[in-house]
Amino acid sequence: MPDTLRRTFRSLNDIERLIACTNLNQRETAMHEVPSIPLEFDAYSEPEMRQRALTFFNMMKKRHSTRDFADQPVPLAVIRHCLETAGRAPSGANQQPWHFVVVTDPDVKHQIRLAAEEEERAFYTERASEEWLNALTPLGTDADKSFIDRAGCLIVVFAQVYGLDADGNRVKHYYVQESVGIATGFLIAALHNAGLACLTHTPSPMNFLAKILNRPANERAFLNLVVGYPAADAQVPSHATVKKSFDEFVTIV
Ligand SMILES: Cc1cc2nc3c(=O)[nH]c(=O)nc-3n(C[C@H](O)[C@H](O)[C@H](O)COP(=O)(O)O)c2cc1C
Repeated sequence: MPDTLRRTFRSLNDIERLIACTNLNQRETAMHEVPSIPLEFDAYSEPEMRQRALTFFNMMKKRHSTRDFADQPVPLAVIRHCLETAGRAPSGANQQPWHFVVVTDPDVKHQIRLAAEEEERAFYTERASEEWLNALTPLGTDADKSFIDRAGCLIVVFAQVYGLDADGNRVKHYYVQESVGIATGFLIAALHNAGLACLTHTPSPMNFLAKILNRPANERAFLNLVVGYPAADAQVPSHATVKKSFDEFVTIV
């Protein structure tokens, strides 16, 4: 068969496949029709998009974990908006497998500090591998968690490893760690944007958090976000300011 004819047949085949595929998509769309609403979406010109992306980056690049907090309460209305932002995160099957406990009560904070320090002492002296301790050395962290008492509040993030239906039956949750991680990222960005500093604190193990905060059996502590105003002389370890360059962490194909 001459080449031109073969090419024509091939493109006819392609068209046929495309038609079959379109029909299938239409059928699939019809099969999966669900109640929906129009997407509310703010569109910008490309220069505006660039400016917004840059403005956001310039704001976020000033974010740093702090371990030096001012002894000052935080406005709960601000915390509330930040949590509302976290609650808008995407999640596997929209199951929203998270729960956030805001702790401002000084006695409860202190209880958490003491329990955390107990775990941390065991971590630094017995549990942590040499490699892990070496990785932490440039940050200068130790078992002292007195910042938990000082910071305005704690937001303890729980992951709901499974859900419960109205009859109390277990409902499987999908992509729990990913979903809770994304929601926590939203929260950290929202807090920074609002003018509050925070520290991602992950004592290991941290099941004492569910006990102290009386959380149900389907929830596991994910992390403890220590939130507040930074102390006037707050420091950032130089090590934490060394970030990978764009080309090191991005590949564009
Ligand atoms: C999952 C996770 C766990 C962390 N656990 C702790 C922790 O237990 N104690 C601590 O002091 N910092 C902890 N950090 C903070 C990191 O040390 C910090 O994010 C890192 O040094 C980079 O600094 P930066 O947040 O200022 O960019 C944790 C951060 C993440 C993301």
